[in-house]
Amino acid sequence: MTVVTVGVHIADILARPVEHIPEGQDTVLVDQIRLTAAGAAAGTAVDLVKLGNDVVTMGAIGDDELGDFLLMVLAKRGVDVSCLARRAGEQTAASILPIRPDGGRPSFHVPGANLSVTYADLDAGVLRGARAIHLGGMDVTFGLGDPAFFALLDEVRAAGTIIAMDLLSEMPDLLGMARAFLPHVDYVLPNESQALLMTGAADIATAAAALLSDGPRGVLVTLGEEGSLVVTESGSERVPALKTDVADTTGCGDAYCAGFLTGLLHGQDVLTAARWGTAAAARVATGLGSDAGITDLESTLRMLT
Ligand SMILES: Nc1ncnc2c1ncn2[C@@H]1O[C@H](COP(=O)(O)OP(=O)(O)OP(=O)(O)O)[C@@H](O)[C@H]1O
Ligand SMILES: [Mg+2]
Repeated sequence: MTVVTVGVHIADILARPVEHIPEGQDTVLVDQIRLTAAGAAAGTAVDLVKLGNDVVTMGAIGDDELGDFLLMVLAKRGVDVSCLARRAGEQTAASILPIRPDGGRPSFHVPGANLSVTYADLDAGVLRGARAIHLGGMDVTFGLGDPAFFALLDEVRAAGTIIAMDLLSEMPDLLGMARAFLPHVDYVLPNESQALLMTGAADIATAAAALLSDGPRGVLVTLGEEGSLVVTESGSERVPALKTDVADTTGCGDAYCAGFLTGLLHGQDVLTAARWGTAAAARVATGLGSDAGITDLESTLRMLT
């Protein structure tokens, strides 16, 4: 089943555990350091492949070594990178994440080439052939907020393609602008602070209702270890997170999206698909990096039994 991920591609550099930044020039030994393909499009693409989907990813990276790394590692993981644009002289987006002992993930980030993505970078023919399209980080790739792209999304949606959207930043202005996508998508999956910042609401129930009124069929607000809130026209349900040994929660939201879409593509209802997402997210939390933990669909779904 072909899924196209569109949007944010980031090289993540992660270390764990980190309790504080050392004083002066001190060096602190850590257990593990990793470099991964991450971000709301690239990270989700890797998880989608592991869950059994054929995946093409679209967006932009720089012509630097981090871009070489992303191309190499995405291809190695089985993601089709032939539609990824390379920008001469631009930096590939990257994050440095010192992971806390409890799995928390503060970060330092350069948005780089993600900021320059436009509709001209996308392959409309490939998008028209997809069974599902995942828009990852439309607040950061804000150039995609283009009537031509919206028209294409409306066209493929009318033909039965499922369209999901995730966000990346915590910036109110960018998140507010990303609301323009909502009439053109089926499901939106913000985390708690993104849902609140997108709407200005004081609580998640009000935020989810406001996002639903913009036009999608469902709003799934992820709440970290508290699980998620699934809101559709037929009501609202809490899906608890699964208990697991947490190493690093980076990419839990991306994994949730990947599991959710995989569930929908297997004909599951929204709530069951949300449970598939929850299982995928719990797997990712067990290892360092947004690509850790998940191996395949079968072992992921075993978490639910
Ligand atoms: N500590 C945890 N233990 C178990 N499951 C977790 C934990 N943290 C997160 N999850 C699962 O992951 C899902 C998504 O997490 P979260 O709300 O943190 O996403 P996010 O902030 O979008 O993450 P990211 O953008 O880094 O991918 C939650 O709904 C939950 O099911
Ligand atoms: Mg997220």
